[in-house]
Amino acid sequence: MSGDFGKILVTGSYGQIGSELTPRLRELYGKENVIASGRKVPSVDRGPFEILDVNNIKRLDEVVVEHDVEVIIHLAALLSASGEKNPNLAWHVNIDGLYNVLEVAKNRKLKRVFNPSSIAVFGPETPRDKTPQETVMKPRTMYGVTKVTGELLGDYYNHKWGVDVRGIRFPGIISNVAPPGGGTTDYAVEIFYEAIQNGQYTCFLRADSTLPMMYMPDCLKGVVQLLETDLSRLKHHTDFNMSAISFSPAELVVEIRRHMPEFKVEYKPDFRQAIADSWPKSIDDSIARKEWGWKPDYDLKAMVGDMLKVLGSRLRKTE
Ligand code: SER
Repeated sequence: MSGDFGKILVTGSYGQIGSELTPRLRELYGKENVIASGRKVPSVDRGPFEILDVNNIKRLDEVVVEHDVEVIIHLAALLSASGEKNPNLAWHVNIDGLYNVLEVAKNRKLKRVFNPSSIAVFGPETPRDKTPQETVMKPRTMYGVTKVTGELLGDYYNHKWGVDVRGIRFPGIISNVAPPGGGTTDYAVEIFYEAIQNGQYTCFLRADSTLPMMYMPDCLKGVVQLLETDLSRLKHHTDFNMSAISFSPAELVVEIRRHMPEFKVEYKPDFRQAIADSWPKSIDDSIARKEWGWKPDYDLKAMVGDMLKVLGSRLRKTE
């Protein structure tokens, strides 16, 4: 399938994942073949772009037809903490938006849809260590509810109409291009900015809150691998567990202090603690490894070293 996708539309292309996945897809499949989209005009235009709100199905359909889109990478969504502040909006964007994407994919017979899921599909009744692929899914957040629903909806379109919908249950993604917004795992990104710029950080989770995480290069690699896998190899579609690193804030701090011994941290857990407490500590991703060859490259040490290097040189330049 590599290189044979035709035109790819990315929704939410200027979010945390989109701002790195869009350029990666352009590198792989050609700049003109990847149409970025979002609700506002981007400050830097690096290729084809369309203003698009995923809640406007007419406009979504127009963009797909105009550009002869064959694949939609659907990244527009609210994350867990934002979703708790505004559950109605989370449902509207995450579910009604996805429904529009799936309807257009079905009606226009698109080749493929990628719709990310999340560790947020799990809840307090789920086994928290090495959480299996098939297990209890009773999330307590609206974000989690929308992600379980999204997985089921994607599978429904797959079984009923043959729409090739694929998805990964992302852990917390750590990155250094666009800041994440509104997630519970975001502390693991903020901490690097604060460490470099201020030498101290107030963490909104407890020191022992172990969560599954992943560095952005692994996330990009995983998405591309799953997209390129031949459909005949997949038994699962919308809900792959995917794991890389698990650590707590305290363990992350130890690793950062190897580079910055003076780094100071205090812990002031807020409402996001309850969300973190309802999620797994580690994930069993053996199905993704088996069906499409998933294997991460970055451990905690490599991720921290790279984050401090990349972010350190960028932030120093802009000072
Ligand atoms: N990073 C997400 C969040 O914290 C989890 O998928 O909401």
